[in-house]
Amino acid sequence: MADEPLVLGIETSCDETGVGLVRGTTLLADVIASSVDEHARYGGVVPEIASRAHLEAMVPTIERALADAKVAAADLDAVAVTAGPGLAGALLVGVSAAKAYAYALGKPLYGVNHLASHICVDQLEHGPLPQPTMALLVSGGHSSLLLAPDITRDVRPLGATIDDAAGEAFDKVARVLGLGFPGGPAIDRLAREGDPAAVRFPRGLTGPRDAPFDFSFSGLKTAVARWVETRRAAGETVPVADVAASFQEAVTDVLTRKAIKACKAEGVDHLMIGGGVAANSRLRAMAEERCADAGIVLRVPRPGLCTDNGAMVAALGAEMVARGRTPSALALPADSSLPVTEPHIPGEDHHHTHHHAGHHH
Ligand code: KG4
Ligand code: ZN
Repeated sequence: MADEPLVLGIETSCDETGVGLVRGTTLLADVIASSVDEHARYGGVVPEIASRAHLEAMVPTIERALADAKVAAADLDAVAVTAGPGLAGALLVGVSAAKAYAYALGKPLYGVNHLASHICVDQLEHGPLPQPTMALLVSGGHSSLLLAPDITRDVRPLGATIDDAAGEAFDKVARVLGLGFPGGPAIDRLAREGDPAAVRFPRGLTGPRDAPFDFSFSGLKTAVARWVETRRAAGETVPVADVAASFQEAVTDVLTRKAIKACKAEGVDHLMIGGGVAANSRLRAMAEERCADAGIVLRVPRPGLCTDNGAMVAALGAEMVARGRTPSALALPADSSLPVTEPHIPGEDHHHTHHHAGHHH
């Protein structure tokens, strides 16, 4: 609808320069420039390389998104940008660009949370999120179960990883198996040729006395590394596809089991899964099966919207505008450790300060 807010979203928290355009909950454009190939030989994202790549890609990526959506910058209702969490230098490039566009166009600026964006993006595919939303957020840096009564201002963590994030575990196990970086997509592909029951790897924090909604993947990662090293030391060939499939099975088993348990505990009849690891084909299939058995409606965006992109930032920005949330100040900082409980960084409320002139806040 033409009266819904038209929002530009900019994402630069890691190695993808993402720019999205959204009108309300409708996706108009989603353009991504990735520096992933430049990091591959280092085995991980190099912050300085990512920042430089964002700087070079920023303006052309914004221009392509506007052209794809066939809208003019002057028609925007707001500019949204990932303010955190993420790599400080990489975030700064996006935040600076967003400020420049917002200031030049005279439009409100919204510094939003990367993690809340990973959840809100599902509105572009499956319509408005239910309230509350139960979300399993699984990315390279975070693994959490979140209950969000309102994605624009009320996100409550039920549990999180106590060590490695799910994506981090995929990346580390991929390195052990010699599959390169990033490891998630490589393990996903290889696991299709393997037997998920070949090795029974440990399921962390699933004992009766363990925290029901927290995760631990570091023991699993170590178990995989030990298993592989033992075979190699004995001169045996490592059945790489079987190990990949068995590792992936352990991760997805724990993630889906705890997510469904959280839905039942909170009386929520649906589950949203977001973040890069939600692109995993086995996680998607297992969640589909187990949610169906439990009578829970599953919402997972298509894989391209699970990994980092600008559309998710625009989606949350549009929701902020639609719900009348206070924009950010032009002095908006990049906050590399922005907590998941803060969906955006509001500026000083102008009406409020006006009526209370002279008071300090
Ligand atoms: O959300 P994301 O793109 O960036 C962060 O915010 O961290 O997530 C990146 C993570 C990486 O660890 C990557 O290996 C993992 O998501 N990932 C996958 C798949 N695609 C990306 N993990 C498992 N299976 C996949 N298909
Ligand atoms: Zn992400």
